[in-house]
Formats: sequence, C-alpha cells, structure tokens
Amino acid sequence: AIARSSSAAAGAQIQRRGFSVTSAPERKVAVLGAAGGIGQPLALLMKLNPLVSHLSLYDIAATPGVAADVSHINTRSEVKGYVGEENLGQALEGVDVVIIPAGVPRKPGMTRDDLFNINAGIVKSLCTAIAKYCPNVGVAFPSLLSSSTALVNMISNPVNSTVPIAAEVFKKAGTYDEKKLFGVTTLDVVRAKTFYAGKAKVPVAETYLRCNPTWRIVFCGEVNVPVVGGHAGITILPLFSQATPQANLSAEEITALTKRTQDGGTEVVEAKAGKGSATLSMAYAGALFADACLKGLNGVPDVVECSYVQSTVTELPFFASKVRLGKNGVEEVLGLGPLSDYEKEGLEKLKPELKASIEKGIKFANDN
Ligand code: NAD
Ligand code: LMR
Repeated sequence: AIARSSSAAAGAQIQRRGFSVTSAPERKVAVLGAAGGIGQPLALLMKLNPLVSHLSLYDIAATPGVAADVSHINTRSEVKGYVGEENLGQALEGVDVVIIPAGVPRKPGMTRDDLFNINAGIVKSLCTAIAKYCPNVGVAFPSLLSSSTALVNMISNPVNSTVPIAAEVFKKAGTYDEKKLFGVTTLDVVRAKTFYAGKAKVPVAETYLRCNPTWRIVFCGEVNVPVVGGHAGITILPLFSQATPQANLSAEEITALTKRTQDGGTEVVEAKAGKGSATLSMAYAGALFADACLKGLNGVPDVVECSYVQSTVTELPFFASKVRLGKNGVEEVLGLGPLSDYEKEGLEKLKPELKASIEKGIKFANDN
C-alpha cells in the first residue's frame, strides 16, 4: 500500500511538471451500483489505484454526487458519473473491468438466496447491457475476441446464482467468454486470513520470517488461506490445512475457524442490525480483486486469487478455487491441492447446495 500511494504521488508530481512518464497502460474500470454501501468506498479505493486511468461510476440514483466527490482526489484516474439506464451505455464504453455491487443487501434472518428475486433481475439487466455495450468484436474477428470484452467482477448476491445468470445472458447474446467472468469471493479469503492469523498468533498483514532447522532466518511470505467452493454458508470452504504459515491448531479450532469464515457475512449483517451487510470490508476485498485483474491484464506474472469461475475442478460447472489471472482474464483455474479429511467432507457437503444455486440461476436466465 505504501508503494502504491507513493508511486501515485510521484506520478501526480511529474504530471504537475508538464509531462507524464506513467508506464501503466490506460485502463478503464466501471462500478455499477457505485452510489451504494459498497459502491462508494469501492469507488474511493479504485480512485486510489494508479493502474486505473478512467473510472466510470454508474447507479440508478445519486451517482453525480459520488463522482464529483471522488473526482477531487488528486490521483491518476479521470472520474465520470452516470445516472439512469439511458446513460449505462456510455458508462460501459471501452471498459476493461466492470465491477457489479448493484442490488439489495441482506437483513438479519435472511439468507443470500432470499435476495435472488430482486437481484437476479438487476444482474440480468446489467449483464444484458454489458453484452450490448462491451461488444464482442470476435464475432467478426474471432482472433480479437479476447482483447475486446470486459472482465466482469460480480459482487451482487447470491453470487452462487448471479454468476451463472451472467454466463447465460452472455451466452444468449453471443458474447460469453468464460475467462472473463468472476464471482468475487475475495472477502471470504480476507476473513479467513484475519481469523486464522488471530488464532495462529501471527501478524496478519506482514511478511513473516521464520527459523529453518539450521536456525537460519528465512523469508516465508504472508498469511494466506485459500477458500474454495462458493459464496454462501457451507458452500464457503476455507482450506486451513493449506494455510501459511503453518500452525498446530486443534481440530476444534479448525472447526471454529471454518464456521466463523462461513458465517462471516451473517456476523456483519447481525451487527448492523437491519442497516445492511458488509460494505467496507467488501469494498476492500473488491478493490483487491479488481487490482489483481488489472495486474493480470497488464501482464504481471503469477497473479493468483481465489474466485468463483467456470470450472472443471469438480463436476459442478462453477466453482471457486485459486485462479491465475493474465492478459485475457483467467489464465488457469488451479486445482484444490491436498485436502484434509475434514475439508473433503466439507467439499462433498457443499456440492448439492451449490449445484441447486447454479441451476436456479441458469433457469432464471432462460425463463425470463
Ligand atoms: P446498497 O443497497 O447499499 O447499494 C446497492 C446499490 O445498487 C444502490 O446504490 C442502488 O441504487 C444500486 N442499484 C440497484 N439497482 C441497480 C441497477 N439496476 N443498476 C445500477 N445500480 C443499481 O447495497 P450494498 O451493501 O452495496 O450491497 C450490494 C450487493 O452486494 C448486495 O447484493 C450484497 O448482498 C452484495 N454483497 C456481496 C458481497 C460478496 O462478498 N460478494 C459482500 C457484501 C455484499
Ligand atoms: C458477505 O459475505 O458479507 C456478503 O455476502 C453479504 C452477506 O449478505 O453476507
């Protein structure tokens, strides 16, 4: 974060002297639902990202104020706000990454699936517009397909169903590219890291050092926990057996950590007591994932994040696992790696629910 803000500051200084040496390519990011609880802090975080040259903020109401506010921040990107469906086309013109946090959030006592009736329609209409305004020139020039369509980062719940809805909409429009559609599950990873670091008593956000068997201090990396499956209740499966740094946690501690990660969203919904669900941590997670997508597009090697994508890792057509991001979006969907017996059991348990949510999304997209 320090490197990023200082490079942004350096970039701003150079621009004030009348020329620019910014080497990062032009990248346009659109946020659909930009005036909402997630949309506003996400707009702020994307405005702070030096990889973004154009930030397009769209909502059905209140976007001009958010855009005017964010646009005064002296960082690289030019900000434009768009309000109302008639301006959605302009908002989407030339985008590289579309982030979708549009839709209603949960209240206490609701499941994410209870949001389906409202959010499925919102996602369907936004994806119809994406198909129309981020056109697939590959129809005429197949070789250009991968460089023409935007990466879609789906945040709107229920993600387990909204991603299949998006896929169906794009398929019908002839613009589907499975490498470019992502369900954002980064918040599950963010939570798993935080909860794990607390239990394992390691610094959550620092690279850590350790003594090897010959008592040499070695660099080990950051706290990391892959989270696979989907994004709702038991479909969220954190793989603490693969967490780094390794810690000798008991089976009870692993069970408690797993449950807390699966219930992380509900913990926030209950604490907010009717005033919505996670917004700030989600904006952080959404900004992290979009940044990873931009790095991949820009050719940065070895960008790996967990995401809910079209997959052959299991028999389910969509599944969250580690994904390598590249110039065309998904470069490689990585396998699950070795699982503990507890995780193998969790994997089998989640499949029926995830399958039903996927089928529900596909049916909605085809019936409506
Ligand atoms: P919010 O109600 O605060 O904001 C939603 C915004 O969407 C509003 O500004 C609203 O005007 C806008 N909107 C509604 N219909 C729209 C349309 N057709 N086009 C454009 N914008 C439209 O809600 P929030 O707290 O920001 O949450 C948004 C969604 O994100 C919810 O579905 C929530 O469940 C989901 N969410 C997902 C995750 C995740 O990990 N994937 C985490 C948190 C929240
Ligand atoms: C979350 O995980 O915080 C989101 O999916 C919002 C919710 O409804 O829990």
